[in-house]
Amino acid sequence: MEKKIAVIGLGKMGVDWVANLLEGGFEVYGFDASAQSRETVEQRLKKGLGWIAKKRKAGEENFVESAYSRFHLLDSEEAFLEKAKSASIFLEVVYEDLKLKCQLFERFIPPLPSEVIVWTNTSSLSIATMAEASGRPEKFLGTHGMNPVYQMPGVEVVVHEKLSDSTLQQTLKILEELGKITFVAADVPGFWVNKQLIPFMLEAVRALERGEIRVEDGDVGLKTCLGHPQGVFKLADFIGIDTFYRVAVAMYLATQDPRYYPPALLARLFQREEWGVKTSKGFYEWDGFKPKGPRDFKDFQFQDASTVLLVP
Ligand SMILES: NC(=O)c1ccc[n+]([C@@H]2O[C@H](COP(=O)([O-])OP(=O)(O)OC[C@H]3O[C@@H](n4cnc5c(N)ncnc54)[C@H](O)[C@@H]3O)[C@@H](O)[C@H]2O)c1
Repeated sequence: MEKKIAVIGLGKMGVDWVANLLEGGFEVYGFDASAQSRETVEQRLKKGLGWIAKKRKAGEENFVESAYSRFHLLDSEEAFLEKAKSASIFLEVVYEDLKLKCQLFERFIPPLPSEVIVWTNTSSLSIATMAEASGRPEKFLGTHGMNPVYQMPGVEVVVHEKLSDSTLQQTLKILEELGKITFVAADVPGFWVNKQLIPFMLEAVRALERGEIRVEDGDVGLKTCLGHPQGVFKLADFIGIDTFYRVAVAMYLATQDPRYYPPALLARLFQREEWGVKTSKGFYEWDGFKPKGPRDFKDFQFQDASTVLLVP
């Protein structure tokens, strides 16, 4: 298989996937619909490659520049589609929105050669539904990388009824060659990881809303008592409050399970575009990737329309 991959969506996760793929020797064609994402991609990607250079490529001169030279940013859907035709894998990493993802698969996948495998990095959405939209369900599966992809070894590989065993085996082999540790999960809302994590994180936000805990105490508690690397509020700011909110809403809509209903505080942060590290404000105030301090939510009001489920 030729090491060529087309990646659509170059936000937080897309770029981190690209860094890992370049490290693994792939030629990568990338596209994002937002001009702002395209303008900042080089700086964000080089940050990831810089981390890899320090931790895993010590002594390899010019690693960052030579890896980056295999990344090709396209500035239109048409140009991207043309390049995607020469790739072996198509990886989708756009917003957590089932309709958006399905529309994208309907448009982009049918023109690709029949042997191209399709991966989606969705956190929670129905793989079987997207697989049907792609028109090639036997070659379509979930490869749910964790944040940041190039640092976190685990990849949740999500299977469904129509997936062929050869596509699954090929995918597992490619991911393992990239240094990932794979595990297989069922196509249920949130799969395995987010089915555990999202209710836990939402409960932390509810506790904050009720005034039972303060942001920093909550994180210190989880770090020092449960061995969490950062605590739940910092994790939410790194994930992106927008993504956290979209995942919770998607899981709630798919299951109607009240444990996934996003609390008003989360809806309010989503509405205000206080999305964590990426907007310098979330549960903490941020200076780049450094927390300036936790926020105090005493002044938030919840008795208004934002308590109604806001579907992005
Ligand atoms: N953030 C996390 O911690 C995390 C972890 C695991 C999985 N995920 C999943 O990864 C996916 C991406 O999440 P993210 O955090 O990188 O989001 P993000 O908001 O950082 O990036 C999404 C990107 O998709 C682009 N996009 C949207 N519509 C597009 C279109 N039609 N064509 C091309 N580009 C388009 C946006 O411009 C944006 O740059 C989601 O499915 C999310 O659930 C996120």
